[in-house]
Amino acid sequence: MGRHLQGGDVVSLIGDLGAGKTAFAQGVGEALGVKGPMTSPTFTLQHEYLGQLTGTGVKARLIHMDLYRLQRPEEVEVIGVEDAFVEDAICLIEWPQIAEDYLPEDRLEVEILGSGESPREIIFRARERDWEQRLKVMA
Ligand SMILES: Nc1ncnc2c1ncn2[C@@H]1O[C@H](COP(=O)(O)OP(=O)(O)OP(=O)(O)O)[C@@H](O)[C@H]1O
Ligand SMILES: [Mg+2]
Repeated sequence: MGRHLQGGDVVSLIGDLGAGKTAFAQGVGEALGVKGPMTSPTFTLQHEYLGQLTGTGVKARLIHMDLYRLQRPEEVEVIGVEDAFVEDAICLIEWPQIAEDYLPEDRLEVEILGSGESPREIIFRARERDWEQRLKVMA
């Protein structure tokens, strides 16, 4: 999936604790040529990396968020989550539910079912038309 991402993309990652959301984000980072380890932003809320888009080699920021520790939707505004929804950044968000009202309509939802040793099922849900087309290309 990482090879198909473009600047401005917002991807929410849904799944239980330990489902593999961070592992998925690390895979995206790898595809974008992110150097160095990508660690879980559970305690820091947000980590930022520099990546390169496949094909064009254009640089893009990869912003990896984890909103698990937020307790109220208003906190989303206070920490400036919306600043990540810009054209030069790709944004991956774990535990995005609390930010529902702040997320752009145009986004891709990735839901990971299963955790622990059980096999995973990953559901890609296009939240806007453009993503439907792009998912077909990815598949
Ligand atoms: N597909 C998988 N199969 C087996 N183990 C996996 C898989 N994906 C991730 N794991 C392992 O499960 C553990 C938790 O993964 P990860 O941190 O990615 O989960 P998470 O969904 O981000 O959890 P959290 O909600 O706590 O952030 C890690 O040790 C990881 O290596
Ligand atoms: Mg995680």
